[in-house]
Amino acid sequence: MRNYQAPPGSKLVLDNRGERSTVDLYSREGFEMLSNLWIKVAAENRMMYEPTWLGRPIIQFPTDIVAIQELLWKVQPDVVIETGVAHGGSLMLSAALLELLGRGKVIGIDIEIRPHNRAAIEAHPLKRRIELIEGSSIAPETVSAARRLAADAEVVLVIFDSNHTYDHVLQELELYAPLVTAGSYLVAHDGAQAWVADIPSAKSAWQDGGPLEAIHEFLAGHKEFRIDPFYTRFGITSSPDGYLRRLTKSEIDERERSSASGAST
Ligand SMILES: C[S@@+](CC[C@H](N)C(=O)[O-])C[C@H]1O[C@@H](n2cnc3c(N)ncnc32)[C@H](O)[C@@H]1O
Repeated sequence: MRNYQAPPGSKLVLDNRGERSTVDLYSREGFEMLSNLWIKVAAENRMMYEPTWLGRPIIQFPTDIVAIQELLWKVQPDVVIETGVAHGGSLMLSAALLELLGRGKVIGIDIEIRPHNRAAIEAHPLKRRIELIEGSSIAPETVSAARRLAADAEVVLVIFDSNHTYDHVLQELELYAPLVTAGSYLVAHDGAQAWVADIPSAKSAWQDGGPLEAIHEFLAGHKEFRIDPFYTRFGITSSPDGYLRRLTKSEIDERERSSASGAST
């Protein structure tokens, strides 16, 4: 590994074909630029495919893994619904937290659970905390099955990481948001797809706005959800604006009271 000399006063200069952006390295902007560029370069190098969690590949940046751990420990859900299983690593992360809490289930939904992944998940010590549903996350029968499994839960948290098109994520948000209990969260991963649409290996499909635009569209019509910036404070995330808290009734009442008093002054 290599160290670069960067004493106080150092600048970051990004040269985009002659158009230069210069910021102080140790300023807030420097932190944001460096984090944003890290996301792009890490995505180009497919770094999100590197981590494993309790033996299973998890397709996340390490900072999002820490954020999900913090979130689950804080919210203490008894049901976590996750769309996008892949190798099962993110299911193991949620299942490990539920195991420590001593209760609950993770419901993993994927349109295709490959036999070797299913076999590894079923052989895992955390299997007793996991239920798998194979099907599209937006198919009515999948949503009904998830709803049935979550019916008796007191605290439900939902995580989306399946198909990352704008249309699909917007449908997931609308379909699963009603299942999220007040004070809990809805996490829509991979909004950073729109931020990496300019990297050398970008796919043209990433230009469609993807999860980030779907999140903003959803929030415009759902004032009961609010972005919680705490979980993206590391700057490095695949999920900008993706950690959404469902407000409690008293928080909604308080917001209405303060906007009414603001309007009358
Ligand atoms: C990025 S991977 C999930 C990664 C996993 N959450 C993790 O952190 O390791 C995306 C997964 O979404 C699944 N998928 C794609 N379209 C889907 C759909 N319509 N419904 C459910 N799952 C879908 C794919 O089969 C793939 O396994």
